[in-house]
Amino acid sequence: MIIDTHCHLEQSSYDSLDDVIKRMNGYMISAGCDKKSNQEVLEITKKYANVYGVLGIHPENAEDFQEEDLLFIEEHLQNPKIVGIGEVGLDYHYEGFDSEKQKKLFERQIELAQKYHKTVVVHSRDAIADTYEIMAKYPDVKYVLHCYGSSVEMAQKFLKLNILFGIGGVVTFKNATKLKEVVKFLDLAYIVLETDSPYLAPEPYRGKVNEPSNTEIIASKIAEIKGISKSEVIEKTTQNAIHQFDLDISL
Ligand code: NI
Repeated sequence: MIIDTHCHLEQSSYDSLDDVIKRMNGYMISAGCDKKSNQEVLEITKKYANVYGVLGIHPENAEDFQEEDLLFIEEHLQNPKIVGIGEVGLDYHYEGFDSEKQKKLFERQIELAQKYHKTVVVHSRDAIADTYEIMAKYPDVKYVLHCYGSSVEMAQKFLKLNILFGIGGVVTFKNATKLKEVVKFLDLAYIVLETDSPYLAPEPYRGKVNEPSNTEIIASKIAEIKGISKSEVIEKTTQNAIHQFDLDISL
């Protein structure tokens, strides 16, 4: 049984979300980014037994979120299908970002996770040093670093925290040399699978609309890189995800 630990299951991304979910032979964790997507995460987790959710304000929305959006997240953290805060973090990719506002919002959401004993799903783009600095202030919190894209050296540093690395479709790309080195370096105990659907489809579907069933392709690629069987990758990463998010799944 496989788990896609990070996807965005929004009706508007697919002709039929029902079919997408039917094609996935396993569990999914759908992530929110703003008020609207957080509401949709709640609806979807209610509708489908094999979909869990995490709620959060993405750093790209650090300048226009409302206080009530954070209250909304807090109100639903007791819901058993909501297993974490995410995706949250830092994104310095596009010009004009306000790093101070992003850091403040990131910290506030980590503190929410800390208060309710939830896992934090972290997004970090062009901001890995600052991301580490903030996470290291809260070493008792459980993290999943989504779509990890930095070096082996940096991964070694993150391993001091209670952290798992989300590995997705990028690992299948020809030019992903650095990420392949990271996957080779990391013990399987620190890896979870993710698709980031509908984005980042793996080869041979690169550029197309991604969906959770493609988690299988990522498992195959990790198995190939590490020279182990695909079933071992699936079995171990599933256990890792169940443990890190406290999922009520019995194997
Ligand atoms: Ni995402």
